Amino acid sequence: MIENRKKNADEPRKPLSQFEEWQVDAGINEVLLENPVNRLTADIPDPTKRPELSKPVKNKRAKSPDISRLDNSVNMLSKITSLDELRLALSEYEGCSLKNTATNLVFSDGSENARVMLVGEAPGADEDRQGKPFVGVSGKLLDKMLLSIGLDRSSVYISNIIPWRPPGNRQPTPKEIDLCLPFIRRHIQLIKPLVLIPVGGIAAKSLLDKKEGIMRLRGRWFEYAADESDMIIPAIPTFHPAFLLRSPAQKSNAWRDLIQIKRKLTELGIE
Ligand code: URA
Repeated sequence: MIENRKKNADEPRKPLSQFEEWQVDAGINEVLLENPVNRLTADIPDPTKRPELSKPVKNKRAKSPDISRLDNSVNMLSKITSLDELRLALSEYEGCSLKNTATNLVFSDGSENARVMLVGEAPGADEDRQGKPFVGVSGKLLDKMLLSIGLDRSSVYISNIIPWRPPGNRQPTPKEIDLCLPFIRRHIQLIKPLVLIPVGGIAAKSLLDKKEGIMRLRGRWFEYAADESDMIIPAIPTFHPAFLLRSPAQKSNAWRDLIQIKRKLTELGIE
């Protein structure tokens, strides 16, 4: 620390030199080494030599704090019986660091009584600002897609695999997905939809535990095992609207998926 360090409490403080005062004013209040290094005469490392790597420490694998927190949250999730409790649990969850860079928790939108539930990937900038899923440009396209089969936000329920915006809209990492997956699984259990629509590859692969990409998964019906009481929900992945905005040629396939969804709703007596 650059400060008037006293060797003992009675010793008078030495005034700071002008240079030290200037450093403190500039916010430089810490030094990294005990003794100063004269950079003009110090040995300059040879850039052609490989630095020595520190040896791995045997039998000392650090236990991931995230995972232990996840264990706690998973245990706690089974006790959650309402959406308010789930929202609170997520807002208090410290296991996923995306929370630290996000402005808002993006929990859900739509009707809690809806029989159709859509699950997207993660919020973008607009969603992060408003705290609601799919309110940006891709959300507008999603609304149009839903409307084409007679659905809107009063007849569907929407959430995401990840409830916090990844910085710069990057894809969530597999670890972030693992950390958030138990929450969306509980979310689905609480909503108990009759039809589940994973929107985009990340949602499809993580909810259905598949390795194939969205090109192979879309438009096919899967059985989503919702919980221990054997609740099976028909699930049909479709393209993410953000992808459709970039690849409009795929809209005809998205339309085929929508027709299948409409058929299923009719079959189930949901108009
Ligand atoms: N994309 C998503 O997957 N979810 C949103 O909420 C917004 C954009």
